[in-house]
Amino acid sequence: MSVVSIEREGEVAVVTVDNPPVNALGQALRQGLWDAVATLDADPDVRAVVLICAGRTFIAGADVREFGKPPVEPHLPDVVNRIEGAVKPWVAAIHGSALGGGFEVALGCRFRVALDGASVGLPEVGLGIVPGASGTVRTPRVAGAAAAVDLVTTGKPVKAAKAQAMGLVDAVMTGDLRAGAVAFARAALGAPLPLPASERPVADPGADFWAEQQTAVAKRAKGEAAPLRALACVQKAVQAPFAEALAFERATFLDLRGSDQAAALRHVFFAERAAPRPAHLGDAKLLALRTAGVIGGGTMGAGIAAALRDAGLPVVLIERDAEALARGLANLQAIFDGGVKRGKLTPEQAAARMAGVSGSTDYAALADTDLVIEAVFEEIGVKRAVFAELARHCRADAVLATNTSYLDPRAIAEGLANPGRFIGLHFFSPANVMKLLEIVPTPETAPETLATGFALARALGKIPVQAGICEGFIGNRILKRYRAAAEALVRQGVAIAEVDAAMRGFGFAMGPFEAQDLGGLDIAFLQREGARAAGQEVPETLGDLLVRAGRKGQKTGGGWYDYAPGDRKPQASARVAEVLAAVITAGPALDRAAIAERLVGEMAAEGEAILAEGIALSPSDIDLVEIHGYGFPRWRGGPMHYTARKG
Ligand code: 3HC
Ligand code: NAI
Repeated sequence: MSVVSIEREGEVAVVTVDNPPVNALGQALRQGLWDAVATLDADPDVRAVVLICAGRTFIAGADVREFGKPPVEPHLPDVVNRIEGAVKPWVAAIHGSALGGGFEVALGCRFRVALDGASVGLPEVGLGIVPGASGTVRTPRVAGAAAAVDLVTTGKPVKAAKAQAMGLVDAVMTGDLRAGAVAFARAALGAPLPLPASERPVADPGADFWAEQQTAVAKRAKGEAAPLRALACVQKAVQAPFAEALAFERATFLDLRGSDQAAALRHVFFAERAAPRPAHLGDAKLLALRTAGVIGGGTMGAGIAAALRDAGLPVVLIERDAEALARGLANLQAIFDGGVKRGKLTPEQAAARMAGVSGSTDYAALADTDLVIEAVFEEIGVKRAVFAELARHCRADAVLATNTSYLDPRAIAEGLANPGRFIGLHFFSPANVMKLLEIVPTPETAPETLATGFALARALGKIPVQAGICEGFIGNRILKRYRAAAEALVRQGVAIAEVDAAMRGFGFAMGPFEAQDLGGLDIAFLQREGARAAGQEVPETLGDLLVRAGRKGQKTGGGWYDYAPGDRKPQASARVAEVLAAVITAGPALDRAAIAERLVGEMAAEGEAILAEGIALSPSDIDLVEIHGYGFPRWRGGPMHYTARKG
């Protein structure tokens, strides 16, 4: 079947695009649109054209899969120009999302109407590029410079009502979009047509505006190139004739399309879309997820319960006694209150979230839950006692999950009846915010349980990554190697602050040492001490020396750095220099780029080991873990992509 078909409703032709899944603008679709203009211009019975899409969405953009290859005719800017230049006016009828090239096609149409709930936007910066088919040039001519800057430099789509207020769409409709758009087209024929977007005047907001935007966009973009280049395109569009600005935009687009950042962001785009439905799950049956239980209302339990409530699941929270339960419920309340304070929830929504939580100290309250997630102390005895209770009280088919960070899930599940329903679900703190979910099956986990873990991730809006069993699974194992490598640099004389600055320069929000000061050095210390007590050979780390000197991080007024009371700004510490003096030797000087290369290389090397052992199933899974769990800069693509691209 052709991707573009034409029907007639009297004097209005309806052009339907049908290119599943998201009507992306591959070559066949571009050609189909190109040909449709000629066909309809030549048809004397047609006076106007409605462009509408089949399936879940309007055209969602250029076909990202074509970006690694040479452009093929007809090029999208020419298609958009041709639609705009058509003898008969075109009306874009938008449902779902009109994004990137899809919105550019709509801008080529003389009118845009949208279904209530639809959205439009230019998300190209998220792929490391700028709009490449007049998005930066036509948008300011339709909605003004400020709106265009906002749209292209943030990449955030706007909903139909807001788009109408901004002048991006002409009408918002409910009900039958096709009928509404055809009626709109007929009515439009009764009045003089507006100017095509390319011919509309645009006001220059002036030098101060551009200077302010430069500063603001640079600050938000950190190391990303595309947002500032997109801003430059809008400025050009406002200050130069249409054709000149279009050429400038196209050159910028083609330049960025081949860049490392764009390749990295495309890699992440596809990795994120592949992650929720890995092929190896096959068609394993999904277990129903209607109700959930959480054991432990501490940092993780409260966050997990909040995530479950955000997804609409009723939650039973179990704690060990009444006092701990009250604390757990208060933790949960604090999360929702925070949501209200930040404007993410209305007070009514927060109250409804809380109303869906019932607290108990009696496991009998879990008799009919479909899924229980354990988040109690990281001690094997405590966890095993919890699962013994769960086995006694939960339905035999309920999924039972542990949030353990380091313990062996096999040991936690030992002796459990129906071990096929047991699985590790490793959330990251804060669990209602962080996107990553490591899914850790044991050898006995049933395929349905594994598939249900992935279904849970989808329901919670998380990025699931399957991990095999080893100490720290994927993420914490790489973190350990990263920290050890950072310490090795300090041992050879690199300043602590230089290491942190190097990683910030690479794109992390924080370096490894300041991050430890924030989270506390004692957790990892206690874990190492536990292993030592169990007879394992664990070499002494610099972190151990600091904790023994009473330096556990910001909470004790200092860790790797000193902190003035009430101030989170790290200050180099004479005391730390003293504590570490005996173990530091002078090594070769390293600049920041070399430091970052070294540490990212160590991450990738651990990633390789993890792959070789089958702990991770693909390099892109490791990249997703680092990006969504550990702050690796998205535009670098993750340690595996970054290292592979560097060769
Ligand atoms: N190109 C190629 N494939 C795409 C695609 C695109 N632009 N957008 C989505 N897909 C694919 C996905 O990879 C996925 O494939 P799979 O089923 O084989 O895994 C499938 O379409 C469905 O995607 P989602 O799971 O994301 O579907 P949702 O329904 O959740 O979301 C969407 C739909 C909101 C349209 C979302 O897919 C999306 O945001 N897509 C990207 C939009 C975008 O970035 N457009 C700009 C592209 S750049 C551009 O247009 C340049 C131009 O200026 C020249
Ligand atoms: P926490 O100490 O904040 O909370 C643990 C909670 O469990 C406490 O509220 C405690 O009262 C409760 N509890 C203890 N024994 C119980 C029992 N027998 N029955 C019911 N409740 C009981 O600990 P946190 O940080 O929330 O960690 C919980 C688990 O999550 C641990 O396994 C930890 O390794 C894991 N984890 C922690 C992360 C973190 O960043 N804190 C990240 C990912 C996993």
